[in-house]
Amino acid sequence: MASSADVQRGLQDVVALESRLCFIDGKLGRLIYQGYDIRDLAERSTFEEVAYLLWYGKLPTGPELSDLTSRLGALRTLPPALAEMIDRFPADANPMDVLRCAVSALGLYEPAETQPGPHAISGALRLTATMPSILGQFHRRRKGLPPLKPRPDLSHAAYLIYALLDRVPTGPETRAMDVDLILHADHELNASTFAARVTASTLSDLYSAVTSAVGALKGPLHGGAAERVVDLLQVIRTPDRAAEVVHSKLVRHERIMGFGHRVYKVEDPRATILREWSRRLGEAKGDLHYYELLRKLEEVVHREKGLYPNVDLYSGSVYALFGIPTDLFTPIFAVSRVTGWTAHVLEEYEDLRLIRPMAKYVGTVDLPYVPIGQRT
Ligand code: ACO
Repeated sequence: MASSADVQRGLQDVVALESRLCFIDGKLGRLIYQGYDIRDLAERSTFEEVAYLLWYGKLPTGPELSDLTSRLGALRTLPPALAEMIDRFPADANPMDVLRCAVSALGLYEPAETQPGPHAISGALRLTATMPSILGQFHRRRKGLPPLKPRPDLSHAAYLIYALLDRVPTGPETRAMDVDLILHADHELNASTFAARVTASTLSDLYSAVTSAVGALKGPLHGGAAERVVDLLQVIRTPDRAAEVVHSKLVRHERIMGFGHRVYKVEDPRATILREWSRRLGEAKGDLHYYELLRKLEEVVHREKGLYPNVDLYSGSVYALFGIPTDLFTPIFAVSRVTGWTAHVLEEYEDLRLIRPMAKYVGTVDLPYVPIGQRT
């Protein structure tokens, strides 16, 4: 039997598998996708290029990128039966639950793509292409509006905004969302990616693996933090109240969302980049309210707890500046992370080994079985 020293709670610091997809240097605050620094990708590439990089292991040539972009554009239409199903979901459902059900249901209509193996790449493209359509249709339905016709001509970032807000974004708006999607695309063995890989490691299919991942992302300690950051900003209201609000949460041992990270011991490089985009977008819209509150919050939390911001601190402010409702923040995270989940699932299929750790048993043994009529 394992000794207590063998148990790594939360699998902290456990290296579970080899991957060439993503490297995090938690001490230096570096993030690498397939060899490329996230800072270069955020500055110079697009979400479509990053998706290609994650799926195919190299940056695309011009023709390869055009091909991927047109394939994604062409796949935006939902199967009619799925579109009907979304219209029957409760209008007050949590959009992450809607996404989880829709991803699972999508697999019913694409049986060929549900077989484990390299051809699951078709499912990766379909899931990536359809997530904005799923969310857009549900969001409009709950406002009593009919679905929009997909726009294959728009980039992924522009289409996401279009599907949610029924307007084609400006160039700077599109770029802000594009960078946000690049930054969220992959992050090594985070909880949702691990969930996807565990499911795939049983030789289950891509749609099941992504359904597992969406469920894991929903939790507030993972993808659900960004919406809670904006909730907190609504409580703080003005920078001069930040210290008092943070202090009152810390004395109650509550966590301040958007701060801390299991791997980064310094600032999350994604937070550094998004902070700048939050400022730029705020300036473009003449609204620096969220940016100023977040700067103050950072100062207070670092002083009180020594914690650094993570990616979720600034992403919510970017979405809020678009006027996107907070319950769509985590689904937007999924719109991007689906590329990483699917790349990890494809990698798992290449070198499959059932993921099956052990538990240290801390219960009792040898209890005598008592018949039901004699139990008290
Ligand atoms: N607010 C207050 N205290 C915190 C926070 C926080 N955000 N994060 C860590 N701490 C404290 C803990 O209370 C604990 O203090 P203690 O030793 O005095 O009890 C100490 O720091 C260590 O915390 P752990 O939970 O052991 O650290 P872990 O590595 O498990 O935490 C986590 C990582 C879950 C992300 C944590 O920092 C957290 O809860 N953050 C808030 C939620 C959040 O922003 N999640 C998004 C993460 S990024 C992503 O998933 C995209």
